[in-house]
Amino acid sequence: MSLANTYARYPVEFVSGTGCWLTDAQGDRYLDFLSGIAVNNLGHCHPAVVSAVQEQVGKLMHVSNLFYTDANRSLAVRLASRSLGGSVFFCNSGAEANEAAIKLVRKFRPRGDVIVALNAFHGRTYGALSATPQEAKQAPFAPLVPGFRAMDVAEIPGAVDSQTAAVLIEPIQGESGVNVFSPELLSSIRAACDAAGAALVFDEVQTGMGRTGSLFAYEQVGVVPDAMTLAKGLGGGLPIGALVMGEKLAGVLAPGDHGSTFAGGPVVSVAAHAVLDVIDDDAFLSTVRDRGERLVELLKELPGVVSVRGRGLMVAAEVDAEAPEVAKRALMEQKLILNATGATTLRFLPPLIVSDDEIDEALRRLRPLLG
Ligand SMILES: Cc1ncc(COP(=O)(O)O)c(C=O)c1O
Repeated sequence: MSLANTYARYPVEFVSGTGCWLTDAQGDRYLDFLSGIAVNNLGHCHPAVVSAVQEQVGKLMHVSNLFYTDANRSLAVRLASRSLGGSVFFCNSGAEANEAAIKLVRKFRPRGDVIVALNAFHGRTYGALSATPQEAKQAPFAPLVPGFRAMDVAEIPGAVDSQTAAVLIEPIQGESGVNVFSPELLSSIRAACDAAGAALVFDEVQTGMGRTGSLFAYEQVGVVPDAMTLAKGLGGGLPIGALVMGEKLAGVLAPGDHGSTFAGGPVVSVAAHAVLDVIDDDAFLSTVRDRGERLVELLKELPGVVSVRGRGLMVAAEVDAEAPEVAKRALMEQKLILNATGATTLRFLPPLIVSDDEIDEALRRLRPLLG
């Protein structure tokens, strides 16, 4: 009897965390530059999130979506008014947010195709997996959901037509190694969707919630999608996802079209409010951009680093070493947590509250493993 064998886990068991630091069962401290894969954007156990959750847990935990709670209704208003207007559907994860987006655009343009980019990652459930054109992840689970067209991102503007329900795209691909798409390319996709009457959906599950140095990545790109999906950093460590729909799509889903028992409960909603209180602040976001620049510049100086890319604190480095081995040694020998997204790609997703000293310390730990 054991955990299902679906993850290649490291032999480390954590018992507590604070800020950018985790402590294991032996009492050793680890510097976290992965943030639970872009979830702990405020670090571990941020006091504002902890106290909001503690208070709510003692008051009301769950009522279902047959009723309102103030925490959840006000979160919808807050997210919509801070981004695309319209309305918000809540769920529990990134994959579920994308499932909701896929159902939304199919209803918007019945039987239409959904165009996705090669190397995209949108999640592991069937719809989201079908939108994730990666052979190793899809092949064992065929047949997939029909109606997805995968292509090189540069081909998308020319491929959108009257049969296209939507383009679903990460403005910066995360799981395939922090592939940053240019504002020009994204705006030509926007123009193609407008011309064909198709919807543009940004998957901001990883790029959202301040990760790139703006609350949402689309703000720096200057391209406004018709809908966007959020999860990961939204709940400060608790599971919450959201599909934010702009005016064009806000009225498409009707009662009975979609739902989820746990989604948008008051506990995760107050957590998200607490996260937004901290992150949605110009001074905070400007510090994220500064720290990101520092991380990039210092990474470029490390021996064995071939190139560095990213935006804000979503950064990847190409190294002339076996990246998975470097990540493993970083954890076991240096007590530095990061991950490899490819054979030669290391990804850095520190908490957004990381300090200059912690960035210096991470690179001091990484240096002996490279070059
Ligand atoms: C861009 C993107 N979309 C969707 C997902 C899926 O999110 P979840 O694991 O919460 O289902 C991820 C997870 O890594 C992601 O990075």
